[in-house]
Amino acid sequence: MAKLKVGIIGAGGGVAAVHFQAYLEVDSIEVVAGAELNEVALEEVTTKWGVRGYTDFEEMLKTEQLDIVCICVPARYHRHVAEKVADYKVHILIEKPLATSLEDGQAIVDKCHAQGIKLYYGASYRMLTANIKAREMIQNGELGEISMALETVIGGDGLENYNECGPHHYEPGTPGGCGMGIVDHGIHLIDLFCWFLDSEVDTVFGRGNISGEIPASEHVTATFTNGVVVHLIANTISFSAQLPSEGIFRWGGSWDPDGKLSLEPGWADNPASFQIHGSKGALSVYPYAEQLIYFAKDTVKPVRLEQRPMPGNFAMQMESFVDSIINDRKPAVAGEDGLKALKIILAAYESAKTQQLIKL
Ligand SMILES: NC(=O)c1ccc[n+]([C@@H]2O[C@H](COP(=O)([O-])OP(=O)(O)OC[C@H]3O[C@@H](n4cnc5c(N)ncnc54)[C@H](O)[C@@H]3O)[C@@H](O)[C@H]2O)c1
Repeated sequence: MAKLKVGIIGAGGGVAAVHFQAYLEVDSIEVVAGAELNEVALEEVTTKWGVRGYTDFEEMLKTEQLDIVCICVPARYHRHVAEKVADYKVHILIEKPLATSLEDGQAIVDKCHAQGIKLYYGASYRMLTANIKAREMIQNGELGEISMALETVIGGDGLENYNECGPHHYEPGTPGGCGMGIVDHGIHLIDLFCWFLDSEVDTVFGRGNISGEIPASEHVTATFTNGVVVHLIANTISFSAQLPSEGIFRWGGSWDPDGKLSLEPGWADNPASFQIHGSKGALSVYPYAEQLIYFAKDTVKPVRLEQRPMPGNFAMQMESFVDSIINDRKPAVAGEDGLKALKIILAAYESAKTQQLIKL
């Protein structure tokens, strides 16, 4: 079968570099073109990856016969770009967060449906092998009745070194913050926990940072209809209080708590992790380190994984998308999943504004 042709919009950016690298592992596709506003970055990308380059993404859509476009521009531009791509009836893999407002997110989903194209939501955390195994163990009942899941992200070098995503990602005055905050990162975990639990969020309480404003601690407490409480807390304006000896080796690449990307394996002093607690046992999950530790009565043991270190998760995401296109199935992670996660995150902002528990 001929390879599906892929174009990447936002080709010179951080996450696009991971897409390019990951797609070397995917036999069923060929990345043929990239669009990037920044001419210097575009030149680097076309040279490095051997693709045709465009500064105007519409020119790319007109010129190339693409099957799939990956939208890797900042979230505030997702709607504008996605609607244009949909006009050309090209299938879309869109990065998280789906959009920066529910209105924009809904518009993207509706337009793709109307145009009869597939929209794959880039929930790349679902494709990390530790997360896949964690879900399998939850669904097999190995943890018993789940009661709680939580993630704590603490990093940074104090307030004066705070590094927010900035106005080119999140319009000033709207939900935003830094790369490891609740909008940009927490949304991965919210999607993941919805997928783990196969249950809907009932109520949300929390607060989040606003783009361009002084940051503070962020948190989301979501209670699911089955009673499970999910808690995210993020603070990158202080300092990690973990000792280096509490770190772990990781097999794959990773974004550290300060949002810095590495594609090499190595020692992580302050590795990303989250915990899930149930009536029979608990799990500590290190998604990028590809490690999973199981705790139960008189037991602490690592769980074996079939590893495919990051950026393998981005490759698996694309393989899953190709499968849905070839077999004309609904994408395993659809636009609606992105919309649901966005709704939960934005409810945390709403609760801070109203000082109310938000019922979804
Ligand atoms: N799945 C993940 O784990 C993950 C990780 C990092 C970022 N992301 C997401 O990926 C998206 C991009 O993030 P990033 O960190 O790569 O941002 P970035 O700022 O590094 O890169 C974005 C690129 O898009 C380009 N761009 C903007 N508008 C454009 C346009 N109209 N046409 C062509 N190019 C355009 C910019 O010049 C820039 O080079 C965001 O939605 C972010 O949340 C996802």
